[in-house]
This record gives sequence, structure tokens and C-alpha cells, in this order.
Amino acid sequence: MDGVIVRPATVDEAPAIARIHWDSWVATYTGVFPQQAFVEFSLDKRERMWAREAALNADATRRSQVLVALHGERLLGFASVGPYRVQSFDDPASTADGELRAIYLDPALQRRGIGRLLWAAAAERLRALGFAALRLWVIAGNPAESFYRAMGAQPVGSSTFDSHGVSLREDCYRAALN
Ligand SMILES: CC(C)(COP(=O)(O)OP(=O)(O)OC[C@H]1O[C@@H](n2cnc3c(N)ncnc32)[C@H](O)[C@@H]1OP(=O)(O)O)[C@@H](O)C(=O)NCCC(=O)NCCS
Repeated sequence: MDGVIVRPATVDEAPAIARIHWDSWVATYTGVFPQQAFVEFSLDKRERMWAREAALNADATRRSQVLVALHGERLLGFASVGPYRVQSFDDPASTADGELRAIYLDPALQRRGIGRLLWAAAAERLRALGFAALRLWVIAGNPAESFYRAMGAQPVGSSTFDSHGVSLREDCYRAALN
């Protein structure tokens, strides 16, 4: 898709970000996460969360950022980056890495190169913050794993967690930023 730009999100974009997060979650995780996870992580809750996060974009001292991909006024997708939040597998090097915390597109707009643009902007932001590598977590079996591999990320570990009685495996990927 031509004419797509990626820039930091503004607070008034939180409802559109939450809508894409929700729609993309439904398309990707129905039958993976139990229904209760959708009830708990509601559209309203996502809207409040992304409004909080986008508001912090204005704080230049903060090492996190929410990025949006736009075509004209239409919001196509978003990504969120920040310092790596060490999770369940033991890797002392990981605290020096940055994290791609979320990357979601409008489900109707996947496989058109927009994810690649968001990835590039997210990587650039983390590089500018001084991180040498990017890490991310993805539910095992998500087609996004192929996207991450295509972007140069490699699996470095995995972990399981419980979502309302359902055990899910997630994989950690890492990509160098140089
Ligand atoms: C993952 C996601 C952000 C990727 O964005 P995208 O715009 O669809 O991906 P791109 O078109 O930029 O793909 C770039 C390359 O990645 C690879 N790729 C992307 N999606 C793929 C898929 N489903 N299967 C295989 N390879 C894939 C391809 O090599 C592709 O290049 P090509 O189209 O020239 O073959 C997007 O598909 C998405 O929002 N998915 C649902 C939400 C999600 O699961 N997010 C991740 C949560 S951890």
C-alpha cells in the first residue's frame, strides 16, 4: 500500500487503536485464548490502556512509545515499544534489550507490507534509545511467527502461562538492531 506513514500516536487516536487491537485479537486468538480472556480484556479496557500509553508519548524522558501507521486519516495499525520486561525465562542479557510489546493491524489489511513499515519504525525507535536488540513474545503457532522470522528475528526461548485455566505456550524472539 502506497502513502502509508508511521508516527507516534496521539491520545485522541486511542479509540481507533483499541478497535484495531480488539478486531485483530478476535481474528487471531478466537479458539486460542478462552472466552473469559476477551471478557476481561474488553474493548473499553483497551481504550483506557492505549489512552494512558499514548499520553506518555509526550514525555521525552520515557523510553516507551506507541506508533501508528496511517493512510491519510485512516489508522491501519499500531506498534508499542519500550525497555524489555523480563518474563519467565532466565536470561540475564535480556534487561539490556528493548521490546516490541505489541504490533497489530486491521485484519483486512494484513500482508500488504504495513507490518514491515511498523517493524522498521519500532526498530529505529529502539535503536535510537540505545538498545542493541529487540525482543518480543508471541503465542506459539501464531502466523506472526513467520513475519518475525522474515524480519530477521530468531527464537531464543519459550514459556507457558495460564489464561483462565488454559495453558498457553509463548515463544520469545530476538533480533539484533545493528
Ligand atoms: C503480524 C502482522 C503485524 C504482520 O504485518 P503484515 O503487514 O501482515 O506483514 P507484511 O505484509 O509486512 O509481511 C512482511 C513479510 O513477513 C512474512 N509474513 C507476514 N505474515 C505472514 C504470514 N501470515 N505467513 C507467512 N509469512 C508471513 C512474509 O515474508 C512477508 O513478506 P511477503 O508478503 O513479501 O511474503 C500482522 O499480520 C498482524 O497484525 N497480525 C495479527 C496480529 C498479531 O498476531 N500480532 C502479533 C502479536 S504477537
